[in-house]
Amino acid sequence: MKIGAAHTLLGLIGLAGAQTTSGNANDPAKPKGKPNFIFIITDDQDLRLGSLDYMPSVQKHLADQGTTFSKHYCTIAICCPSRVSLLTGRAAHNTNVTDVALPYGGYPKFVSEGWNDKYLPVWLQEAGYNTYYTGKLMNGHSTSTYNNPYPKGWTGTDFGFILSDFLDPNTYVYYNVTMQHNKEDPRTLTGQYSTDLAKNSTLSFLDQALADVSSGADSEKPFFIGVAPIGPHSETWQNRFSTPVPADRHKDLFPGLKVPRTPNFNPEVATGGGWIKTLERQNQTVVDYHDDYYRRRIQALQAVDELVDGIVTRLSAAPPEVLANTYLIYTSDNGFHVGQHRLAPGKTCSIEEDINVPFVIRGPGVPAGQHWELPTSHTDIVPTLFNLAGIPLQDDFDGVPMPVTETAQKTESSDEARKSEHVNVEFWGRSIAEGKYPGVGSGLLGPAGLNNTYKALRLIGDDYDLSYTVWCTNEHELYDLKADPWQMNNIYSSTDNATTATPLLYGWDKAKVIARVDALLLTLKACKGAVCRRPWEALHPAGCVHSLRDAMDPAFDNFYVEQQPRVSFSECKLGYLAEFEGAMQPLIFGDEVGGMQARWEDWT
Ligand SMILES: *[C@@H]1O[C@H](CO)[C@@H](O)[C@H](O)[C@H]1NC(C)=O
Ligand SMILES: *[C@@H]1O[C@H](CO)[C@@H](O)[C@H](O)[C@H]1NC(C)=O
Ligand SMILES: *[C@@H]1O[C@H](CO)[C@@H](O)[C@H](O)[C@H]1NC(C)=O
Ligand SMILES: *[C@@H]1O[C@H](CO)[C@@H](O)[C@H](O)[C@H]1NC(C)=O
Ligand SMILES: *[C@@H]1O[C@H](CO)[C@@H](O)[C@H](O)[C@H]1NC(C)=O
Ligand SMILES: *[C@@H]1O[C@H](CO)[C@@H](O)[C@H](O)[C@H]1NC(C)=O
Repeated sequence: MKIGAAHTLLGLIGLAGAQTTSGNANDPAKPKGKPNFIFIITDDQDLRLGSLDYMPSVQKHLADQGTTFSKHYCTIAICCPSRVSLLTGRAAHNTNVTDVALPYGGYPKFVSEGWNDKYLPVWLQEAGYNTYYTGKLMNGHSTSTYNNPYPKGWTGTDFGFILSDFLDPNTYVYYNVTMQHNKEDPRTLTGQYSTDLAKNSTLSFLDQALADVSSGADSEKPFFIGVAPIGPHSETWQNRFSTPVPADRHKDLFPGLKVPRTPNFNPEVATGGGWIKTLERQNQTVVDYHDDYYRRRIQALQAVDELVDGIVTRLSAAPPEVLANTYLIYTSDNGFHVGQHRLAPGKTCSIEEDINVPFVIRGPGVPAGQHWELPTSHTDIVPTLFNLAGIPLQDDFDGVPMPVTETAQKTESSDEARKSEHVNVEFWGRSIAEGKYPGVGSGLLGPAGLNNTYKALRLIGDDYDLSYTVWCTNEHELYDLKADPWQMNNIYSSTDNATTATPLLYGWDKAKVIARVDALLLTLKACKGAVCRRPWEALHPAGCVHSLRDAMDPAFDNFYVEQQPRVSFSECKLGYLAEFEGAMQPLIFGDEVGGMQARWEDWT
């Protein structure tokens, strides 16, 4: 085992509970005063299908001027739960907003769980920010719920609505948007393009924020503007998902554009796990439809690209210190698949297409044209903003500040023990198949996509890259993304043993790797705060273990292989009902005999 003084010390700092801010706040490259934020979040935008390649303004203004986090993940691959996690800095198992509608999710559940009193805009206002938001907040925030109560924490809002219970119209209708300004009544703006409305309202909030900044009275007030266009989400009307609708001016662009033909696109042999593995191969009619679907998504993103250009142009026209003190962030609530593993368009799965999302940031101290390859997630975003704004981190944040400044990136990459290698992914409920051809037996109301409850883990280190999923049916998947980046070959096999054909994984006994990975998932599935941030240290409170590599020490074989309970479910449920989710916490090393409960409670 590698035991370095630095590792032990960092382990102890990690254990001390309170989160320390990394160097950002004192970064010499940063101007004085709290920075402004413009946070752009698209809806269902993929990273893995190449959508950013068709966004020249995002490239020019953001990626070329800032850092791209290419291993950034959402922790739950569906809109509302993902947005709530992002806005609270907490995993969905800690918000218990796990679905798009009641009883398990949607805006009313966000309110009833108390999050409307404690989420990003409320905290930013307390820290002296003016806060603005335009576009989609979350599912279930609708013409019947928008004032019951109003979302808290905003100085100015222009919300665009979405379906609440799959009956409420007009969220994802690109040319018939219902908007609701501040505390005014909702109004339907038939014939105007959704993303263009979002652009106009963003620019007017920006003008307002800039006027406040220069008016004297509010001269110290920094601003946060959340911008949430619905592109490239499917056009959705009365529970039917059809191709996204681009702005008229973009509807003929990219003739002949097709879904990238990666090896996992509509494969000859079924791939994936659970209900996905039961899908039939798509015929040419369906493939053609999906190519058109993909092209419409890229077209719909053109107005988003113009929105980004509009924001940067307006900022550039302000006094130079404004742009110099503003962070611009671009991301999406979750990823998307179109045809991979024979899937109809959609999200909700633990496959890379659905969870690996765009994340680009530019701003004070952020190095230009950089790519950051270590894993980060949506639960890291609020801690990141807090860190940049010099607001003390909350102990029960499930994420950590991302290394966005040059100083933080240097510190992080020179310190092995600080590298975070895990992302905990979770899901409860149904899958939703979008488009005209949902696939045999699947679909929103069909049976096959019903059992889509699972726990998953991404584990990315220098020498390994693993994706591990345990379904509510207790089926398992394990992919080695170094050898198999398209997740074609599930190498988990419960019948495997050391003497079968592929017993080794990265030179280690595969069964022993699985035991570690499962224990890490068991640690994360119900973690809170420090345990979510430093799960290996939670398993090994005496220090020394900060990574899978450290945990592979043979001294721990018995602990992991023989003693640790496994992640399991007793039934598939549509929400977070802990009594059906097997063991909720791992055994802690050193505490195998007694004392485990007390120790765990210290941690949570
Ligand atoms: C636009 O939405 C409103 C409100 O839902 C609806 O009454 C109207 O029929 C829609 N118009 C069009 C052209 O779809
Ligand atoms: C946005 O603002 C511009 C300039 O004021 C205006 O010409 C355009 O019609 C507006 N677009 C929408 C969709 O409101
Ligand atoms: C292709 O598959 C779709 C969906 O199953 C089906 O509706 C359609 O009839 C099939 N087309 C042909 C030409 O087989
Ligand atoms: C492990 O695999 C070997 C070779 O296929 C086989 O002989 C043996 O019975 C297997 N053991 C178990 C426990 O499945
Ligand atoms: C869903 O999972 C349950 C086990 O929890 C199983 O009994 C049921 O058959 C599954 N349904 C489908 C459609 O696969
Ligand atoms: C999550 O919310 C559901 C619905 O209100 C509730 O039944 C469940 O017990 C909650 N889960 C946890 C772990 O609190």
